[in-house]
Amino acid sequence: MAKCCIFGLGYIGLPTAAVLCDAGHQVFGVDTNLDVVESINSGKVHIFEPNLEEKISKYISSGDLKASITPSKAEIFIIAVPTPFNNSKNRIPIPNIDYVISASKTIASVIKEGDIVILESTCPIGTTRNVYDLISKISKVKNFHLAYCPERVLPGNILKELVSNSRVIGGLNQLDSDKIFNFYKTFCEGKIIKTDSKTAELVKLSENAFRDVNIAFANEMSIICNKLGVNPWELINICNQHPRVNILNPGCGVGGHCIAIDPWFIAHKFPEETKLIQQARNTNNQKSEWVITQIETKSRELSLDLSKKIKIGCFGLSFKPDIDDLRESPALKIVLNLIEKGLDVIVCEPNINSHTDFDLCDFEIVEEKADLLVFLVNHSKFKTKNINKKPILDYCGLLN
Ligand SMILES: NC(=O)c1ccc[n+]([C@@H]2O[C@H](COP(=O)([O-])OP(=O)(O)OC[C@H]3O[C@@H](n4cnc5c(N)ncnc54)[C@H](O)[C@@H]3O)[C@@H](O)[C@H]2O)c1
Repeated sequence: MAKCCIFGLGYIGLPTAAVLCDAGHQVFGVDTNLDVVESINSGKVHIFEPNLEEKISKYISSGDLKASITPSKAEIFIIAVPTPFNNSKNRIPIPNIDYVISASKTIASVIKEGDIVILESTCPIGTTRNVYDLISKISKVKNFHLAYCPERVLPGNILKELVSNSRVIGGLNQLDSDKIFNFYKTFCEGKIIKTDSKTAELVKLSENAFRDVNIAFANEMSIICNKLGVNPWELINICNQHPRVNILNPGCGVGGHCIAIDPWFIAHKFPEETKLIQQARNTNNQKSEWVITQIETKSRELSLDLSKKIKIGCFGLSFKPDIDDLRESPALKIVLNLIEKGLDVIVCEPNINSHTDFDLCDFEIVEEKADLLVFLVNHSKFKTKNINKKPILDYCGLLN
């Protein structure tokens, strides 16, 4: 069993730490956020992921897991830091790999010959090679092994999927892929596929661009359905009876740290060749604007009918059902935009305790106080509720 040092103790790094401890490895976690480090060292978890806190608390107590803001020597280094984008004046946002570079520099300060470095953060093409060049230049260590091994987990089911999903190992050379394959074999039960680093980088970006393009199709159809008075969920359900058709779910946009960002990493490098990918990104962003216009129109109509300023009840803020993650969330953007426009909005999000910009209320309170009910995220907790007969706008298929 190995000593592993994980950089970034967030939605990916922390569950990975737990799974590696399960497999008998010693894990040292590094995070630049002192609050995160202190909370983990006290056995607490700062993100919502089922069963994670029990495991972290157990391994902190046993000494198998420790967290710190400074690195430790190890045999295996894993990078799981954020890779956001920076908005640019041009249409295409610019990938930001500053956190990966910073983690790589820190690894360079402790790496030794024969160690393994694994890049799990979603990255633009060529980043793995750049990480090798950077670490070897700073550390003067040449004989270390490096592979790009992207994550494919579903938030809410991360602990299971880290073990059961198939994995891609994109080594800089065959020896690197072989060594890192053997490490993944110690905790991964899914199929492990070896390839080169560039292919692995493009695999991850292609998977998320594929989903984005297909959701854009569903979102486009949902607007056409609205204009025709057709129920989009019924339409998709019937279409999907076709043996070779599988239309994805429409929603109030597309969010999260992956699908809403990663397609831009391809488009940034290939602006001329990615017309479809860019259009899908724009179509999905425009769906949120369309939703805002719909809500405004409906609330104007209701205000006239009821002769008063109406209250809009919004249900769901996270970027997908049954999680607490608000990153790039279209539901949150919609709520903030409605508030900015001076509309009277009341919000229910059962998966988080509070929000800095507005109060959160229980489902029953929002339902009772609001004149218009707007469902933005299809949380399971909403499905069990009896929803009253007030006017409803459903953008997540809750009522279907
Ligand atoms: N969340 C997902 O479902 C998911 C799925 C697949 C891939 N990914 C990818 O995994 C990567 C990590 O995503 P996440 O959701 O875990 O992010 P996160 O924001 O939840 O966690 C990242 C952590 O890294 C820390 N950090 C930043 N710079 C650091 C540094 N130099 N050294 C050590 N720690 C540092 C941050 O403080 C933060 O706690 C991203 O590239 C993301 O695209 C995420």
